[in-house]
Amino acid sequence: MRRPITKMASSLAILLATAACTAATSEPLISTAIPEPMVSPILSGPEALDTLTYAEPQVARVTHVALDLDLDFDAKRVGGSAELRILADPGAERLVLDSNGLDIARVTDGSGRDLGYEMGELVEAGGKGAPLTIMLNGARSVRIDYRAPADAEALQWLTPEQTSGKVHPFLFSQGQAILNRTWIPTQDSPGIRQTWEARITAPKPLDVVMSGVLQGVPEDLGDGRRAFRFVMDKPVPPYLIAIAAGDIDFRAIGPRTGVWAEPSVLPRAYAEVADTEDMVVAAEALYGEYRWGRYDMIILPPAFPYGGMENPVMTFLTPTFIAGDRSNNGLVAHELAHSWSGNLVTNAVWGDSWLNEGVTTYFENRIVEAVYGPKRAEQEAALMYANILETLAEVGADAPGTALHTDGEYELGSAIAYDKGAFFLRTVERIVGRERFDAWLRQWFDNHAFQPATSEMFLEDMMENLVADDAEARALTLREWIFEPGLPANVAKPDPAAFAEVDTAVSAYADAGYMPAAYAGWTAAEQMRFLDNLPAELSADQLSALDQALGLSKTGNNEILFLWLEMALENRFEPAVPQAEAFLGDVGRAKFVRPLFQVLWEEGEWGQAIARRVYARTRDGYHSVTRAGVDRIMAGD
Ligand code: BES
Ligand code: ZN
Repeated sequence: MRRPITKMASSLAILLATAACTAATSEPLISTAIPEPMVSPILSGPEALDTLTYAEPQVARVTHVALDLDLDFDAKRVGGSAELRILADPGAERLVLDSNGLDIARVTDGSGRDLGYEMGELVEAGGKGAPLTIMLNGARSVRIDYRAPADAEALQWLTPEQTSGKVHPFLFSQGQAILNRTWIPTQDSPGIRQTWEARITAPKPLDVVMSGVLQGVPEDLGDGRRAFRFVMDKPVPPYLIAIAAGDIDFRAIGPRTGVWAEPSVLPRAYAEVADTEDMVVAAEALYGEYRWGRYDMIILPPAFPYGGMENPVMTFLTPTFIAGDRSNNGLVAHELAHSWSGNLVTNAVWGDSWLNEGVTTYFENRIVEAVYGPKRAEQEAALMYANILETLAEVGADAPGTALHTDGEYELGSAIAYDKGAFFLRTVERIVGRERFDAWLRQWFDNHAFQPATSEMFLEDMMENLVADDAEARALTLREWIFEPGLPANVAKPDPAAFAEVDTAVSAYADAGYMPAAYAGWTAAEQMRFLDNLPAELSADQLSALDQALGLSKTGNNEILFLWLEMALENRFEPAVPQAEAFLGDVGRAKFVRPLFQVLWEEGEWGQAIARRVYARTRDGYHSVTRAGVDRIMAGD
């Protein structure tokens, strides 16, 4: 199963040096920063066939991307050039790239000669975009002059009002799963790894960060702009190319860790993530060396549509996880864990996203255990388990979408890919023992580093390198876990003691209306467990009594505030409406925004009127990911 990383022939470097002479910028576009780029293998089996790309990597594939782009905050457009290194059969005639809305001005080869190209038909549904086919004519370096569309789905341009500082605009990108083809013309498939570099020009005083390593100091161009250079010398799936620009400052945490945020957010942000260096140390002790050099984070404005995104060397985070007590920074552990599961070993197709998210959710819980102790880890695992059961009860334990491996298109993180995925590994760990399991998982990362993987490979590797004998194989039910719907009977359930006190309080409230006197002293997970399990129907009096006693509407924890708003709206509790409106105006995180609109929508005329009024005001401020979800809800889908 081992597939060694091969080094690209150095003749390619010579070829690229020639290519550089024709670049429009004063310096070579493809630099010599990566003299011998690492080239990762691609997979060829049917289970590794990505139906969401137009690329034909077996014929001609991109191994390196060099971007030279200007950030135009007035036009809200990114434009410039992308130079691609190609690895192709000698007889390969064409290179097929992914594009969604890109405006192509010209395509040339390494010596500046025009190459023929054709933009195929645009498939709008699902964001697959259109194939951009380039006639290679023998070229192994291709330069594309282009502009991204003003409404590029990967990019969100924020007005100063949408930032904390209110003075400067902000830009960030979100590539996963197939959004990067709206701003980068390349083969946008998780199984086609590429090294990359970028030169980005941006107006002063904005700083630019990317998911690559900043080279030197920014160059002042003398026209009110600065040029920033970045390099990612390890092959990554292209969904991990990311950029952010804004009025941001940096503060170091440990020798290789630090955090970027707007100046007014930085102190709170720093305090929240101050355990990050400890987390990296814990993660390395578990599953081997952190291979990416630095681990920095950027706290984005609240419009960021996810909790976090594991962009290499620069995790992107929502500010909404900041609670003042580090109670939500399982999120940081999660994005950090992706440095192994996801970024080092990557799902070859999005139907195997559990290989990224499930393995990461398991790993996250192990980091939480190491840094914060087993009590917190077990409570967080118990919340995940409840989430699995709730989802299975909703969609049915035989629904095909509840298998870890899915054939369908990728849907954002349900209880299945994340939580069932994590409980699969937890179950295997319990059956074979932690020592053997940890050694196995570490070798999985080591032996597949910088490579794509499939469910079949994962299973095969477990059979080869973990499972001791037939009896153990029967006990594990690996195939059932990965390919069958529902939850296998051998699942390693959470310790019932994890929430014993809270569950008693839930019953006491349901039976006799007792308020839990200990609530304020509970952990965030305990508070969430309590709120999750309150009766679905609550009167206005009950809701205001709960709010009064537990301070729900005044909580500094957005996860808890979200649960409060959700239950308040489900019960048409008028006093909570203004706060829900304010929350939906500030926050663009899809995990919070979509369910709140969903609840409103389900509350008939009362809620739909509120939803329409609020959405008319907030829609423009949401990222395309969040907008797409709410649009569907508001269309009654
Ligand atoms: N990689 C995901 C975010 C993602 C998933 C983006 C699917 C696009 C498509 C990230 O690592 C993630 O899982 N974020 C979660 C974090 C949570 C589970 C701790 C989120 O954003 O809520
Ligand atoms: Zn994740």
